[in-house]
Amino acid sequence: MLSLIVAIGKNREIGKGGTMPWHLPEDLKYFKETTMGHKMIIGKNTLYSLPKILPGRLHIVLTSSPESLPKDERIRPATKMEALVDEYSDSKEEVFVCGGGKIYAEFLPFCQKLYLTRVSGSYDADTYFPEINFSKYRLISKSDTKKDEKSGTEFVFEVYEKL
Ligand SMILES: NC(=O)c1ccc[n+]([C@@H]2O[C@H](COP(=O)([O-])OP(=O)(O)OC[C@H]3O[C@@H](n4cnc5c(N)ncnc54)[C@H](OP(=O)(O)O)[C@@H]3O)[C@@H](O)[C@H]2O)c1
Repeated sequence: MLSLIVAIGKNREIGKGGTMPWHLPEDLKYFKETTMGHKMIIGKNTLYSLPKILPGRLHIVLTSSPESLPKDERIRPATKMEALVDEYSDSKEEVFVCGGGKIYAEFLPFCQKLYLTRVSGSYDADTYFPEINFSKYRLISKSDTKKDEKSGTEFVFEVYEKL
């Protein structure tokens, strides 16, 4: 099964200058807990936006130049998104689509579950999440409103399942 995990601002902003528009340690912890032990599908830009290769997760990295990726046992290059959709849409294991903008736009139609962190606030951004048709999903969980003490930013964790 393909799931998708993303943090989005009020205007569906997700990235700026190769990084996230905010710094929310509790969201990073949630991302780690949710994806730990699972395969992640990411685009090349997102691989290079990470501070390091993330432990405990295979990084399946989409790129048209697989030879350019770092050689590491936690990185598996991929050149065809359709092959990944075929391989994982009906798999028992939960595989996480983890961005960025291009990858989310391509994979959203094939993801059964969406883990959305909704960040309240508008941010200067250059990368956006695609429009979500919420009538196609059912909200299955929603956290209390969280607040990052340092920045004062409020956010909520939501999980949706495709109908
Ligand atoms: N808010 C969040 O939760 C979140 C999560 C992840 C990332 N982000 C942010 O998103 C931004 C990066 O997103 P992005 O849209 O620039 O890049 P991206 O989606 O991470 O990567 C795009 C690259 O992936 C490769 N690619 C994509 N689709 C492909 C396909 N079908 N076949 C082969 N290769 C494919 C291409 O690499 P080649 O050029 O090598 O062909 C393309 O240039 C950063 O700012 C990052 O911080 C935010």
